[in-house]
Amino acid sequence: MRIGFLIIGLYSLITPLEAQKSAEVAKTPPMGWNSWNCFRANIDESKVKAIADAMVSSGMKDAGYQYIVIDDGWMTNGRDINGHIIVDATKFPNGIKPLADYIHGLGLKFGIYSAPGCFTCLKLMGSLGSEQKDANDYASWGVDFLKYDHCNYPSTSVEAKLVPLDSCRAAYELMRKCLENTRRQIVFSVHDKCTIGAVVNNEASLPWIKTVANMHRTSNDIRNNWESMISNLETTSNLWEYAGPGYWNDPDMLEVGNTGNESTSRSNSLQNMNLNEYRTHFSMWCIVAAPLITGNDLRSMTPEIIEILTNKELIAINQDPLGKQGKRIRDDGDTEVWKKELSNDQLVVALLNKSNEPVNISVNWKELGVKGTFKIRDLWTHKDLGKFRNSFTGKNIPGHGTMVILSKKNRIY
Ligand code: GAL
Repeated sequence: MRIGFLIIGLYSLITPLEAQKSAEVAKTPPMGWNSWNCFRANIDESKVKAIADAMVSSGMKDAGYQYIVIDDGWMTNGRDINGHIIVDATKFPNGIKPLADYIHGLGLKFGIYSAPGCFTCLKLMGSLGSEQKDANDYASWGVDFLKYDHCNYPSTSVEAKLVPLDSCRAAYELMRKCLENTRRQIVFSVHDKCTIGAVVNNEASLPWIKTVANMHRTSNDIRNNWESMISNLETTSNLWEYAGPGYWNDPDMLEVGNTGNESTSRSNSLQNMNLNEYRTHFSMWCIVAAPLITGNDLRSMTPEIIEILTNKELIAINQDPLGKQGKRIRDDGDTEVWKKELSNDQLVVALLNKSNEPVNISVNWKELGVKGTFKIRDLWTHKDLGKFRNSFTGKNIPGHGTMVILSKKNRIY
């Protein structure tokens, strides 16, 4: 009996500390840029520095973007005699630290990529068996963010599909621990293919992964087309109870403005998204409190793309400190209504038009769970639309477009 009390006592001492640890970083969804969507493995020091410069000069840093993350392809497939991973010297001739220093010098943060198996998805060196060594190297280089992917675990992609959940869990817990051992604040972003199926079909894996990761991929790789974006949104839509400060569901990186050579729509002949679709993509990632990790070439953005990615009113709802993932409250097939509760008594509603034609979408206060007359603001036109009682109708919402409106909740004007 006494032992029982002692264990419960220790547990209650440990739990708040553990919970606190994972909430120290990523208290709101991480915002940044990652090299994969646009460049695949075609990255190098000067390109990444220029992207970091563009994050500052375009106004993205001011809008809240912080992390510059290099994805797969920065390493070779070897280790030196002391077991340290060998950086690809043709791409990063000065190693990784000077790049991290440069990025920090701009007031930004730096992220890197690895995998728990022998090899990354590009069959380059993974962290298996060298987890602490890699974590220590990351910390010494000044890494602030680790994307930990899951291909070729333990050593082949076939094995990766057969690995039991427990073994995946151990691999991710191990790296989490190694990162913690470095005492550096590092966002841990995981793409755990063991649990993707579980995420979609059964949410059993989420409670544990939430304690290990700061963000967790909930879908397969996004492509720059409407179908892929909506499908990734769908897999994340019912996971709202698992998101909150320190841990976020990740429907994958943004494709907004991704016209890079590696933009993958071409391979399946679907169209790249148009501006209305990009606005929907950005709106919905903000509503579901997804990490806002851009994947386009920041050096060559059109004014329209900058305007979407730096929409401060939408970013504010994504970054709201309450950290609630928005929920779909009505699904009429071609049209949907979503709501996200914010701190400061605010409520944001997305009217999503999945059809190809312009439509009107109405929402009434009863389905939102509010009463009274509310002042409504449009977060894309940045205009106050007036006072509305009992319901609101968004008019002429373009095909594949989304209207996002904001009001104070529980306030009668
Ligand atoms: C995939 C991952 C992509 C990218 C790629 C690198 O598994 O989903 O986002 O990281 O690996 O090889």
